[in-house]
Amino acid sequence: MGEERVSEQVSLLYVPLGEEDPYPEEDWDYATADTKILTHGFHAYPAMMIPQVARRLIRMYGREGQTLLDPFCGSGTSLVEARLAQLNAYGVDLNPLAVLLARVKATPLPPESLQESLACIYDHYRRLQRLPKEERQKYVPRFFNIDYWFSPQVQEDLALLRSAIWSLQEKLLRDFFLVVFSHTVRECSYTRKGEFKLYRMPPEQQQAYRPDVLATFLAKAEANIAGMAQFVAQARGESWLQVWQGDMRQKQPIPDETVDLIVTSPPYGDSQTTVAYGQFSRLSLQWLGLPDEEAKSIDSRALGGRQAESQALCYRSVTLDETTERIAQLDRRRAKQVRAFYDDFSLCFTEITRVCRQGAKACFVVGNRTVKGVKIPTDAILVEMAEGFGWRLVETFERRIPNKRMPLQNSPSNVPGERGETMTREHIVILEKQG
Ligand SMILES: C[S@@+](CC[C@H](N)C(=O)[O-])C[C@H]1O[C@@H](n2cnc3c(N)ncnc32)[C@H](O)[C@@H]1O
Repeated sequence: MGEERVSEQVSLLYVPLGEEDPYPEEDWDYATADTKILTHGFHAYPAMMIPQVARRLIRMYGREGQTLLDPFCGSGTSLVEARLAQLNAYGVDLNPLAVLLARVKATPLPPESLQESLACIYDHYRRLQRLPKEERQKYVPRFFNIDYWFSPQVQEDLALLRSAIWSLQEKLLRDFFLVVFSHTVRECSYTRKGEFKLYRMPPEQQQAYRPDVLATFLAKAEANIAGMAQFVAQARGESWLQVWQGDMRQKQPIPDETVDLIVTSPPYGDSQTTVAYGQFSRLSLQWLGLPDEEAKSIDSRALGGRQAESQALCYRSVTLDETTERIAQLDRRRAKQVRAFYDDFSLCFTEITRVCRQGAKACFVVGNRTVKGVKIPTDAILVEMAEGFGWRLVETFERRIPNKRMPLQNSPSNVPGERGETMTREHIVILEKQG
């Protein structure tokens, strides 16, 4: 790491919390920022938040000792930043892979213990490799489509590696290496690299593809231990972290009015199509032992994944009414899907409102989708919805999405080959809970 970057991090860390905006001159794009610092580069995840954005928001609206909630925590970007700023942190996500990633990334672990554990995994793996072929084969799991995504050799190597990791007694250490394993699963599968959705590489490429499972695992383990060492050096203090698998439409185990700050990027409302968190996680989850049906159903269980039954919903958004009306003129079914997402979102908002104190700030990073050529102004809809729950708008920042973190084009009309812009800008909406 260059000297410049080190000093940049240090200066970010020592900005006192609760300041107005410590960087009023800077835009929110962070086009050239390194987003993989500390533990942030442990594992890919769709639509990750930029750590610099989370850090700045926490510094603007948080104070040491306060409690932050990320109700859609994904891979845990804002939880990592909360701990660095000495805030306590709750994280909730529907996706068990996200929960594992978030917990591991935001839990400091001594690098020496990790190095020792890595040596144990290596020895154990080498011992298993010396077993006769038919014995080694007994370790290979059977799950839906395993032969479609993994060569026989990769299946065996992953199976032995998984068993070696499971030989670690200490859960925190084991979880750390399960994250490395999950990365290895994806890297060594036939999935096309650099994509979040599951696409298989063409047959001629598959034949030439001979990934080295152990080498992939060891290289990533060393990189992640180095990231953890940096995190440990910076994460001082006594803050706590709780992360669990949960559905924010339902009541969560958080007492009433105890949360001071929300920093989150909610799902974009198209988990079934463009940003498929479940599809991205499926192979890892199957290797981690989640039953096939559960691993396959994450996207349909996410917000807007199913058309909600008519429930007693208590929100109104004129902008949403107008937008869905325009979409309905083109496609009634798509209009209903869009509406289902916001209905679901309003249920989460009920829960968010319950757990937040009066005066709490909520920072939502949201993108504006396009469906059937109609732009959906999520930021405006969110503000109107929030007002109905007793929140007021403080301010909105705009940021350009400078990298390929999000698929910029999809087929919003669901017509193969027809492309439309999804999102190149997002909004950061800051709300305050009123009395
Ligand atoms: C945009 S991602 C969050 C990314 C995260 N900020 C990060 O940096 O990795 C949105 C997350 O919402 C989760 N999600 C979708 N529906 C949910 C629900 N009903 N309850 C809780 N989490 C949900 C998805 O699994 C996904 O991880």
